[in-house]
Amino acid sequence: MIIDQVKKNCIPRHVAVIMDGNGRWAELHGNDRIFGHRQGVESVRSVVEGAGELGIEYLTLYAFSTENWCRPKEEVNALMALLVDAIVKEVDNLREKNVKMRVIGDIDSFPPEVQAKLKDAIENTGSNTGLNLILALSYSGRWDILQATKKLVREAIAGKITIEQLNEPFFIDHLSTSGVPDPELLIRTSGEYRISNFLLWQSAYSEFYFTPILWPDFRKENLFEAIVDFQCRERRFGKTSEQIRS
Ligand code: FPP
Repeated sequence: MIIDQVKKNCIPRHVAVIMDGNGRWAELHGNDRIFGHRQGVESVRSVVEGAGELGIEYLTLYAFSTENWCRPKEEVNALMALLVDAIVKEVDNLREKNVKMRVIGDIDSFPPEVQAKLKDAIENTGSNTGLNLILALSYSGRWDILQATKKLVREAIAGKITIEQLNEPFFIDHLSTSGVPDPELLIRTSGEYRISNFLLWQSAYSEFYFTPILWPDFRKENLFEAIVDFQCRERRFGKTSEQIRS
């Protein structure tokens, strides 16, 4: 079994996923796009389970980008309803599996009832100590860098910080992922080779894994395959191979 090939002593702490291909999957199955998104929830369930089995600490899923607001209104509404429905239905399961949910993104842009449901789910899973499931909603990497900058400028204007204090760790503390390690592995499904405004700052040293599998067909076994591939790579962070091995 593929899980037996995963080395348990070098599991990435943080895996991030661009879930792509729901629309194409639906088209292939002669159905509408929302059918693909609905099927994509099954993949989310499987991958969350798999991440828990491996002891991954953080799993970030790109569920709705800032740019997704530009899709046809019916699709945005349906996607929103699906997200809320899935989150509400899964809360008990998440609690049972000790999964802690967190959301990153411009949550204020969501309808108030959606915000309330998200807040409930975050509070309901807040004391869990297992996998941290981070949903990126109305998220984009540029938005994140910009909101961090705005917070810093506000603090500077208020005289709380000086320019000299501004360094990388300080900046990182103002990103929406504050307290979360950078993803070592970033997976994108559906055969596209782009980062699409995902974790731009945080993925500076991530290993990228691209697979042609469309998101609704992706299962935890595919996550295990990605991790086996990741474990064969040499991460040098700008150093030489010799430096890394010594
Ligand atoms: C990309 O496929 C997928 C999305 C924009 C939505 C992803 C959302 C889900 C799978 C539901 C998530 C649910 C939870 C609970 C997190 P696409 O529509 O861009 O596909 P295409 O590129 O084939 O058109």
